[in-house]
Amino acid sequence: MRRKIVAGNWKMNKNLQESVALAGEIKSALAGCPLCGVEVVVAPVFTNLYAVAQELKGTPVAVAAQNIYPKPSGAYTGEVSAPIAKSAGASKVILGHSERRQYFGETDEFLAEKVDAVLAENMEVIFCIGEVLAQRESGEHFQVVEQQIKNALFHLPASAWSRIVLAYEPVWAIGTGLTATPEQAEEMHAHIRKVVEDKYGKQVAEDLTILYGGSCNAKNAATLFAQPDVDGGLIGGASLKAEDFKTIIAARA
Ligand code: PGA
Repeated sequence: MRRKIVAGNWKMNKNLQESVALAGEIKSALAGCPLCGVEVVVAPVFTNLYAVAQELKGTPVAVAAQNIYPKPSGAYTGEVSAPIAKSAGASKVILGHSERRQYFGETDEFLAEKVDAVLAENMEVIFCIGEVLAQRESGEHFQVVEQQIKNALFHLPASAWSRIVLAYEPVWAIGTGLTATPEQAEEMHAHIRKVVEDKYGKQVAEDLTILYGGSCNAKNAATLFAQPDVDGGLIGGASLKAEDFKTIIAARA
């Protein structure tokens, strides 16, 4: 079944105390507010993941890691594996974020390994895709996104797709205030669904949840979410304020 999801990517923001406080504010903001089937996710920094998960225990808010290393354990100094993130309270992992691709050189092939590692733990993947500005300007954006999906995800069996959520995040829209128009988001989301349908069939494509991310905020969320193929949002900056995050969740409900 296609789901409605609003996920907050806190990136490298908020120390331990601030993360717990924000989780507490989100908990209070959502208490007594009907979520209407919207799944809410927050992704804190690794060191704060356990405390945030404890703070949100007993609420419907799920906790995600922002990344993992594909090996389960071993001599990989400084890294965190899927089973270790899971033991701290993460049920999902964001993978392929453009900041990981850009600053840490993550390739589609490496991301394919990470996807397998997350699925092996029965966790969910929120997989990010999106073109940079030059690729959109040269008209390559559909092809770029298609290739990212094929390279990192098309080795999966159809059954694995029930634990994959895609997030279309045009890189030129992330943190820039330049949101994609609802039409730009919809045409890409529809394209993504078609790419998945061509490989896995109509049912997998129809059931796939595709989020939009990139300067999605309390003001523009409703018009983006009104598009038939935009199932929710992956929110950066606006997820750091509980009131804005709540407004975005309400826009999806
Ligand atoms: P933004 O970030 O909402 O701050 O643009 C979105 C993201 O990178 O997931």
